[in-house]
Amino acid sequence: QTEEALYRPNFHFTPKANWMNDPNGMFYLNGKYHMYFQYYPDGNVWGPMHWGHAISKDMITWEEQQIALYPDDLGYIFSGSAIVDKNNTSGFGKEGVSPIVAIFTYHDAKSEKAGNINYQSQAIAYSLDEGLTWTKHENNPVISNPDIKDFRDPKVVWDDSNKKWVMALAAGNKIMFYSSLNLKEWKLKSDFGENIGAHGGVWECPDLFPIKVNNGEETKWVLIVSINPGGPNGGSATQYFVGDFNGNTFKLDEDFSNQLKKENAIWLDYGRDNYAGVTWSNIPESDGRKLFIGWMSNWEYGQEVPTFKWRSSMTVARELKLKKTGNSFCLQNSPVNELYSYATKSISKDSIKSNKIEDLLSESDIDFAKLNLQFELKDLKSEVYNLLFYNKEGDTLSLGLDNIKNEFFINRKKAGKVDFSEKFAYNISKAKVPETFEELNVQILLDKTSVEVFYNNGEIVMTELFFPKSPLELFSISSKDETFKIENLKIQEFKFN
Ligand code: FRU
Repeated sequence: QTEEALYRPNFHFTPKANWMNDPNGMFYLNGKYHMYFQYYPDGNVWGPMHWGHAISKDMITWEEQQIALYPDDLGYIFSGSAIVDKNNTSGFGKEGVSPIVAIFTYHDAKSEKAGNINYQSQAIAYSLDEGLTWTKHENNPVISNPDIKDFRDPKVVWDDSNKKWVMALAAGNKIMFYSSLNLKEWKLKSDFGENIGAHGGVWECPDLFPIKVNNGEETKWVLIVSINPGGPNGGSATQYFVGDFNGNTFKLDEDFSNQLKKENAIWLDYGRDNYAGVTWSNIPESDGRKLFIGWMSNWEYGQEVPTFKWRSSMTVARELKLKKTGNSFCLQNSPVNELYSYATKSISKDSIKSNKIEDLLSESDIDFAKLNLQFELKDLKSEVYNLLFYNKEGDTLSLGLDNIKNEFFINRKKAGKVDFSEKFAYNISKAKVPETFEELNVQILLDKTSVEVFYNNGEIVMTELFFPKSPLELFSISSKDETFKIENLKIQEFKFN
């Protein structure tokens, strides 16, 4: 099988060719979701960064566009965000056209090489044609480097209560908050995080946004922070914080702070392959969702994964919700509803009772390369629930719940090619089962080289890559308990073209 047939995902964005990392500058406008991305058009490993660009009507199928931003004398174009400047606060608008403004980091590789530490600064560019072509501001950078080595990834949001732009910026081991009225002049307001959360690596790609608690009246602010390395299962990963933001400072919520006393860090995704994700801007109020996408890889091995024409894909786009149960907050993330409009074939089965269900599904029922599988476990008494996806060549991806250790797990050690990097499969990834879980709703998306597992509507999520030698074709489920029962099994195959 060709690389395209075996490994090019069906419903996860990949560039046609060459290297991609973080999603950047996502905004919505006039029926289109825009996504830019860290892109190196001249090779399949990381190199001088550009912003690639893709457009989608539904965040599921994408059309790649021409490159949006090229490196220049000030440096490579690192990660950042974009907003629609409806009121033309920046003055970049012309003849009634609102500008889209991109806020990104310049990385001056020459200066870095010369041994300086102040080689990253923040800059802006604008577009008057809905994000297709961009003009860089003539007075860049808009925030110069204050002698901080890792100083990057500006994410800008409109703070409607205080009528100003707010920027979250990663600065070494903390986040710095700036504000501005015109996107050109920025004032440092405060910082957050030096002694809180996970610090096994440098902080990157923050996102700060308001969100309704349990979809009700109360609003909290969520701060997302990616960190590399130091993730819960090794390498890069994304943590979050829940609190309040008064226009100047982010204050951790007390209940969330108590959660952190027990956990140290709370992760948006416990799998190894969801990094640098942030949310879309300019989602209409009538929609109101917080929409997220992440880079589906990990800096520990991302440049070595066995695809050569292109490298890396994004996660499925996800909706974020803030759930509060008792005293604990959880930022749920699960696939956007748009995905299900591609479901063509649906199989449902009544409850199944048996301790081992061999070949519950096979490729003659469904294509495992575009699969959504959902079911419920009503009573979680069995010791281990083991779900196996495999093929006749012996590649086996196993995942599930271990009730003795009280953990969810994904094991890709035998799921195909692993020896391209020693960092790829040295561990079985794990996530602790929350105390609040009494029954379990399991959703699994499979797409050739990725598995995304959502427990209880995305309260615990695990996203991982794997590279089978041939397509997966069988599914079994087992437990040691004779009375083990799965209910409301729903199996969908998606169709794209
Ligand atoms: C995160 C990151 C960002 C940086 C970009 C460079 O993956 O390291 O901090 O802006 O990638 O490509």
